[in-house]
Amino acid sequence: MLKKAKKKTAVLLSTILLASSFSVVAAPLAQPVEAAETKAVNPSAKAHDQKVIARVSTERMFEDARYLAETIGPRVTGTEGEQKAAEFILERLASYGYEVETQEFGIPDKGVGHLQTSDNKEVLVTIPAGSGGTPNDGITAGLFDAGLGKAGDFTPEAKGKIALIARGGITFAEKVNNAIQAGAAGVLIYNNVDALAPLNPSLGGTSFDIPVGGITKESGEALLKDVAAANKTVNFNVQLLKNVKSQNIIASRTPEKGSNHEIIYVSAHFDSVPFAPGASDNASGTAVALELARVLKSYPIDKEIRFVFVGAEEIGLVGSKYYANQLNEEELKRSLVNFNMDMVGTAWENATAIYMNTIDGKANIATDTALATAERIGTPSELILYQRGASDHQSFYDVGIPAVNFIRREPGTAALEPYYHTPLDTMKYLSAERLKEAGDLVGASIYSLIRN
Ligand code: BES
Ligand code: ZN
Repeated sequence: MLKKAKKKTAVLLSTILLASSFSVVAAPLAQPVEAAETKAVNPSAKAHDQKVIARVSTERMFEDARYLAETIGPRVTGTEGEQKAAEFILERLASYGYEVETQEFGIPDKGVGHLQTSDNKEVLVTIPAGSGGTPNDGITAGLFDAGLGKAGDFTPEAKGKIALIARGGITFAEKVNNAIQAGAAGVLIYNNVDALAPLNPSLGGTSFDIPVGGITKESGEALLKDVAAANKTVNFNVQLLKNVKSQNIIASRTPEKGSNHEIIYVSAHFDSVPFAPGASDNASGTAVALELARVLKSYPIDKEIRFVFVGAEEIGLVGSKYYANQLNEEELKRSLVNFNMDMVGTAWENATAIYMNTIDGKANIATDTALATAERIGTPSELILYQRGASDHQSFYDVGIPAVNFIRREPGTAALEPYYHTPLDTMKYLSAERLKEAGDLVGASIYSLIRN
């Protein structure tokens, strides 16, 4: 379902002002960079919008995203990169004066994999959650070309071999199940589209006893040609790391007076997929949420606000599910809305629209508020209401909280940037202006709900 949902007024004016607002002078982060942003205001914006827009710093968001994507780099769930990002976020929030909580949780055993051909070529492989492990020196076996991995694609020849399976047709978990039925010793699934990083095949929460890996289309085709055809072997090694931890970082603020306030949740995940610096996915949303935490800290509010920085999103929304499921009944009753930001700053030129993804495809308090705000402040991009989960708003929705995810996409096709989940998801393809646009829109929306 696709609904266009906005008239555009004063687009040109605010585009010009936004563009000019980025030429701010670099300043050390200890000194707030604010003055240059005050021009970026639509005439119909209210004073309360301006209080946010004037302070949301393009430069600070861009530099925070750069820190996450470049200084830290890939932030794969359960690794040092993810942990460093968590520490960075925690320190930032504490420096803004928040009480900050680290919420630690366990994640499924994590596989670290190596794949090597008998002529010593190393093949990049991603081990999905739910893969089985191998002995310390891996398994050495021939490859069986199992086509799409449907039951009829296997012959008795597959027994004891590593099934090489193309993506497509049936689910990844079905492919693995069929390989197990045929007695395969392991599974390698190769992509059916060109991509820089190896495929990360989601096994849908099922755990298997045999090792499973994802590889690129190019690697799969090369293995078919060089190894499977010539009956050579590969060595596939998967070591399962047990008791791995991830964490959410939460900063909250309650109004000075009264009790029993409604709660607004602002969320963004800070982990990334393997091999990706995750500038767009999701240093972008993290940097915007951090900036909103800074800006909204100093104004009087009449509702509770919680900034939830989420770990382990990329392995199946694990961090946000953990967060949402530990909310008690009293907190759930007070929960008003979740604004999630995931991929809000791509510079990809086709992604001219801000999609508001909701789980049921219907408008809710978050999307209504954002539309009204966009109209007032003159958000340059078109806003499109769309039905889609696949980010942390799903976890809030699942416990009954109205939720939205803001994400940049190409209007009409809903396509994501081509760098998505690849090593090319770098700062080169992140737009400072679009971070500002998201920060203004989401910040002014939230402030219109919580201002006192
Ligand atoms: N940043 C993406 C958001 C997204 C939303 C991508 C909708 C594509 C469509 C998110 O981090 C992501 O990659 N989600 C996973 C699913 C998730 C449940 C692990 C995806 O879409 O593959
Ligand atoms: Zn992602």
